Amino acid sequence: MKQIAVLGAGTMGIGIVRLFAEHGYEVCLYEPHMARTVLDEKLRSFEDNRMNDSGRPDDSRFSVRIYEDISKAIANADLIVEAVPEQLEIKREVYRQLAQNIRDNAIVASNTSTFALETLAENQPFSDRMIIMHFFNPAHLIPLVEIVGLPDTPSAIIDETVNLMRSCGKTPVVLKRDIPGFIANRLQAALLREAFYLLENGIADAEQIDTVVKEALGLRYAFKGPFEIADLGGLDIWSKVTGHLFPELGVSRSAPESLLAKAAEGQLGAKSGAGFYRYDDADEVKDNFEQQLQDLVRLKRESSPL
Ligand SMILES: NC(=O)c1ccc[n+]([C@@H]2O[C@H](COP(=O)([O-])OP(=O)(O)OC[C@H]3O[C@@H](n4cnc5c(N)ncnc54)[C@H](O)[C@@H]3O)[C@@H](O)[C@H]2O)c1
Repeated sequence: MKQIAVLGAGTMGIGIVRLFAEHGYEVCLYEPHMARTVLDEKLRSFEDNRMNDSGRPDDSRFSVRIYEDISKAIANADLIVEAVPEQLEIKREVYRQLAQNIRDNAIVASNTSTFALETLAENQPFSDRMIIMHFFNPAHLIPLVEIVGLPDTPSAIIDETVNLMRSCGKTPVVLKRDIPGFIANRLQAALLREAFYLLENGIADAEQIDTVVKEALGLRYAFKGPFEIADLGGLDIWSKVTGHLFPELGVSRSAPESLLAKAAEGQLGAKSGAGFYRYDDADEVKDNFEQQLQDLVRLKRESSPL
């Protein structure tokens, strides 16, 4: 795999572009709604601030071309990564444009957070070459990439994608079956459902809940998954914990009221200056978080796997 087209340069697309370019792939970017000067500036800062895995300046090849015409962006792509907004009609319109211009053997990967592949691939002429490649924000830093195919997706396509991800230093996880939200967003949603239950029932405020996650769960989860933690704690204990607590947990089947209210008031979080917290300089918060993530990923790589 040599050339990769990325569609959309929003939160996710720009990180995906950065990841592939930093690992020596030729990247073609199509983004119809963002000023060229803004994109150029972002790409220049990525190129200037590259670091290799040992944290030293990296001056290897960094090739990104920006296109205003989707047909040109995908003309020679071996892989097309779609990172346009999470709206079915927008994604389907992009796929309609792809269908007219795509190369015969190009792989089409969606970075959707929630749609099942079956829904996205329905009636698409390239459905047999379509997969989900679910990155995490920031895509160039978080190692996990979830990969999903359909029952008749050729194993060669999955293998090729897994190899590509490994060549970029990623940790790919291939799901056994297509399901909305995949693994990580389902787990994250389960945690959020309970966090909102605790918040909306006056058990704790947002800051307290965040503290509990950061000071206990998050620390453990950086090194051990829930089944490893269950094994270490003892499955007899966890049988009791799940038996006693599962009946007590929130079981809401709709988006939380407090979340809907904030969004309706325009409190969208860091990007609007306020959400559950206030943000005077959202860029500084974001940059600081990226630095912390980078340090943690490096620490994890250096620490012993056991
Ligand atoms: N934000 C996250 O944390 C996150 C994480 C994983 C996956 N995702 C998924 O990634 C996808 C993109 O999400 P995002 O957060 O980057 O959204 P975003 O709104 O930040 O970016 C979307 C970009 O797509 C562009 N766009 C709109 N129509 C387009 C078109 N027809 N062709 C090309 N580009 C077009 C927009 O101008 C925008 O720059 C969604 O499917 C989302 O669910 C998001």
